[in-house]
Amino acid sequence: MPNVISVQRHLVEMQHGHPSATGDLTGLLWDLTLAFKVISRSVNRAGLINILGLEGETNVTGDEVTKLDRFAQDVICRSLEHDGHLCCMASEEEAKLIRIPERYPKGKYVLCYDPLDGSSNIDANVSVGTIFSILKRKTESGDGTLDDVLQSGREIVAAGYVVYGSSTMMVYSTGQGCHGFTLDPSVGEFLLSHPNIQMPRKGKKIYSVNEGHSRYWDENTRRYVEYVKSPESGGPYQGRYIGSMIADVHRTLLYGGIFMHPRDFRRDPVHGQGKLRLLYEAAPMAFLVEQAGGIATTGTENILDIVPNDLHQRVPVIMGSADFVEEYLRFQKGDGPTAKI
Ligand code: AHG
Ligand code: MN
Ligand code: MN
Repeated sequence: MPNVISVQRHLVEMQHGHPSATGDLTGLLWDLTLAFKVISRSVNRAGLINILGLEGETNVTGDEVTKLDRFAQDVICRSLEHDGHLCCMASEEEAKLIRIPERYPKGKYVLCYDPLDGSSNIDANVSVGTIFSILKRKTESGDGTLDDVLQSGREIVAAGYVVYGSSTMMVYSTGQGCHGFTLDPSVGEFLLSHPNIQMPRKGKKIYSVNEGHSRYWDENTRRYVEYVKSPESGGPYQGRYIGSMIADVHRTLLYGGIFMHPRDFRRDPVHGQGKLRLLYEAAPMAFLVEQAGGIATTGTENILDIVPNDLHQRVPVIMGSADFVEEYLRFQKGDGPTAKI
């Protein structure tokens, strides 16, 4: 048998890199992988079991159906709430902090997650995913509080995502590189397929952004996107935009390129506002991108440096190959090259 490394073995080996580790984080990540397998099974069967449709809707045979993102939310919450590793959770699907029920022990970690990213695409069989990050609590004991959750991405101890695509892949990091596993459905295990993912500094010339919003971007972002489409950039770059952050960033990690969901001046005409959520989307993906050698910024600050002031805070997101993001930042400062358009 070839040297197959399961995610379980990998987690244990990573733990050995931290001699003071108690195994708590390993246990938490291991419990998460079970939840991901359950979600993966349902996503793959989405069309078959008629689980699609609005929450509370009834399907053709009169059964209650649950929206898949609600289902994913419940699976993650139920899989983790009882295991004693967490003091609280926060999810894109829940307006407030998720408390650990009274009857279960409270642990030293906090889990933040987007249970199903890109869910509006699922009816068209487009890749969707789960994003998560883990923080160490700041309070001593008892129920977790907002203070435990509202920490910058620099405090993340582990982050990852799962993409439910043509195959199901999990990518995670505990700060020791970024590692990818593919789910082998026949053995029901995530197996190491992409050890130590490194994003090329100068990746493939791919830009990934919803240009439908370009009218509402700042002038420098518009100039940058015109530039990547011009021969002056050595391009034109290829445009690739799936509309599932998870899938767009996954491709960017593997091939390089630049993914953007920039500030938009429709919602806030003075300062502009991003769409993606700091805690559930931007910070965990930024952690992985940095682990893979890339850069993640809002255009004015590094995403990992932002201390959230709200559970559902949104931020502009520009992430990808270091050379490309640095070039975007030069445009933001107003000194990028000028494209002849
Ligand atoms: P979610 O499905 O969790 O609500 O997230 C959707 C997000 C993200 O996946 C994607 O990158 C972005 O929305 C797409 O936004 P636009 O429609 O503005 O392109
Ligand atoms: Mn999302
Ligand atoms: Mn979501």
